[in-house]
Amino acid sequence: MKRRDFLQQTGFGLAMIGASGLVLRSDARPTPRSLDALEAETLFSEISGVNLDDKTNLKPTVSRDIGPFYRSGAPFRAKLTLPFEPGSVLVVTGRIWSFETKKPLPNAALDLWQVDNQTADYSAGNGDFKNRARLVTDESGAFEFETVHPIPYTPGANFWRSPHIHFIATAAKHKRLVSELFFKGDAKQDIDRLFHPSLAVAVEKKKINGKDYETAVFDIVLEAEK
Ligand SMILES: [Fe+2]
Repeated sequence: MKRRDFLQQTGFGLAMIGASGLVLRSDARPTPRSLDALEAETLFSEISGVNLDDKTNLKPTVSRDIGPFYRSGAPFRAKLTLPFEPGSVLVVTGRIWSFETKKPLPNAALDLWQVDNQTADYSAGNGDFKNRARLVTDESGAFEFETVHPIPYTPGANFWRSPHIHFIATAAKHKRLVSELFFKGDAKQDIDRLFHPSLAVAVEKKKINGKDYETAVFDIVLEAEK
């Protein structure tokens, strides 16, 4: 059966004729493309009052070893944990910046992994990507993710890791950065030889709907590829 016959016999033809009566207005214009970096930056500054040019004190983010627990292929999502994961809910926001241009980097990628809050284990990462996620920065280089505050763990005798979230940050024309995010005042930082104070951010305690949660702001600065 030809498509035309099918439409006529099934009554879809009438619907199609109705739909075909819809034509684009002659004065219609293409839907605006998404914001490019400069436009977005301007828009963001106007909306938030934040002056993105005032970043002359940016320093490249310190790197850390990748460690044995990275697994590729984590899902793209802004929440690392499963629903109702035990632990203190933590929302981390920030921007990824270019050290050379002092501008935020849209479409930069973050790959995150951390231990859970009870056994301090990393998920297997082969189908089970609990406490792992990837995400992409928005037009103004900003990201936000939710997780639970990680706990300390001991990888071996006389060695403690203070709470941290591992990450890999990548952006076009910039060097890949592997590092870790820490939180000021957490346990074991004095004996964690991988701790670095420049990677530690303050945690603010907040309350929503009668429940406590934490927020932290962490900016990442990438160096351009030479
Ligand atoms: Fe770790």
